[in-house]
Amino acid sequence: MDKLVIRGARPLHGHIRISGSKNAALPILLAAPLVDGVIEYDNVPRLRDIFTTLKLINILGLETTFEQNRVTVHPPASPGALNHEAPYDLVKTMRASVLCLGPLLARLGRARVALPGGCAIGARPVNLHLTALEKMGATFDLEAGYIEGRCDRLRGAHIIFDFPTVGGTENLLMAASLADGRTVLENAAREPEIADLAEFLNAMGARISGHGTSVITIDGVASLHGGRHTIMSDRIEAGTYMVAAAITGGELLLEGCPYRELDAVVFKLGEMGVVFEKTPDGVRVARNGDLVNVDVATQPYPGFPTDMQAQIMALMCLARGAGSIKETIFENRYMHVQELVRLGARIKVSGQNAFVHGVKRLVGAPVMASDLRASASLVLAGLAAEGTTEVQRVYHLDRGYETMEVKLSRVGADIVRARE
Ligand code: EPZ
Repeated sequence: MDKLVIRGARPLHGHIRISGSKNAALPILLAAPLVDGVIEYDNVPRLRDIFTTLKLINILGLETTFEQNRVTVHPPASPGALNHEAPYDLVKTMRASVLCLGPLLARLGRARVALPGGCAIGARPVNLHLTALEKMGATFDLEAGYIEGRCDRLRGAHIIFDFPTVGGTENLLMAASLADGRTVLENAAREPEIADLAEFLNAMGARISGHGTSVITIDGVASLHGGRHTIMSDRIEAGTYMVAAAITGGELLLEGCPYRELDAVVFKLGEMGVVFEKTPDGVRVARNGDLVNVDVATQPYPGFPTDMQAQIMALMCLARGAGSIKETIFENRYMHVQELVRLGARIKVSGQNAFVHGVKRLVGAPVMASDLRASASLVLAGLAAEGTTEVQRVYHLDRGYETMEVKLSRVGADIVRARE
């Protein structure tokens, strides 16, 4: 296993190019079984989760190539050659594999998908996906750790989600694209990655409107044709590097940085004393003197994203005064807290809440990554800490950040990847 060795307390200066969005690319790639034609995807990030997704697509019977940041997917000769099963040993490494459920049911009328286990941050059930698909005529058996789904042709339905589930909205968007009739999704998730998925499907001939709002309407079509799509930029990667500029007291120009999609993050970092400048080349980020602490509650989009919670916590550790975080989306997303405390942070967790008292300095130490965004927050803290920080188990980081240590080294960080 690899680790990252960071010698901190060095302000970062320079340009970082933001990669394509992991959380847009995963559903958009997994939509491929819906499409009866060749698809070309551009701006696909080279991440572990992307390679896992391409492996799953191959298992489902589609040929793929991945050169630089372009993925090409070739459908099988006939839909009959599609395989309807997503095996456990693959699903257990990436729970987003459950997003193949909607496409397989819509295209083949059957799906056998390993029930995704929980993960470090929570149980992550998929009950909302299944209940909604049942409303469209699917039936499910759960046996031997697999979801066995069957249907004749899915039919349009009026669905109201108990919770604006991102994955549930994505599965239903894809399923409804080929269903018979109109589907309306209410209390749908509004994340920008969902709008990107809808734009992709529409480019392939789907008829979707309202994406980006909480009411999405899909009029099913008989088939989807091939085409091209460029994956949107990764707003969470961009937010992570915004924190890197602020926590090191440097200044970064983030090229290709999504900005409107980061409103809640920019607002909250601005409250702390981070300054932003939109330029033709991207967004310039720096900090204006000492940082002050804030209160943050994670919310579904457009609220403050849970995927930025661990990163802003690292920044709050070095801000003046006391601040609080309320994690309302996942039940166990504070695995980074004890590791930040090892670096000298003062944080107390009580239920959904974390209370942070800013300290003057952090001191480097060996720390352990537990999940994707927790590992990002440990890298950020290590960049600011005095001395050497070793972040172990960086395979978590490789799931969602394209060559983070390379991007950071180019802007002045002293960070190297080593064997544990
Ligand atoms: C997506 O996960 C993202 N993953 C997550 O990013 C992100 O944190 C999350 O949305 C929230 O924004 C991808 O896009 C691949 P949800 P997802 O369905 O779809 C509960 C990262 O770091 N729930 O909105 O799983 C669930 O347990 C990852 O990039 C049910 O109870 O999120 C959770 O508490 C981590 N039943 C909450 O809703 C369901 O059927 C949010 O889940 C579905 C969800």
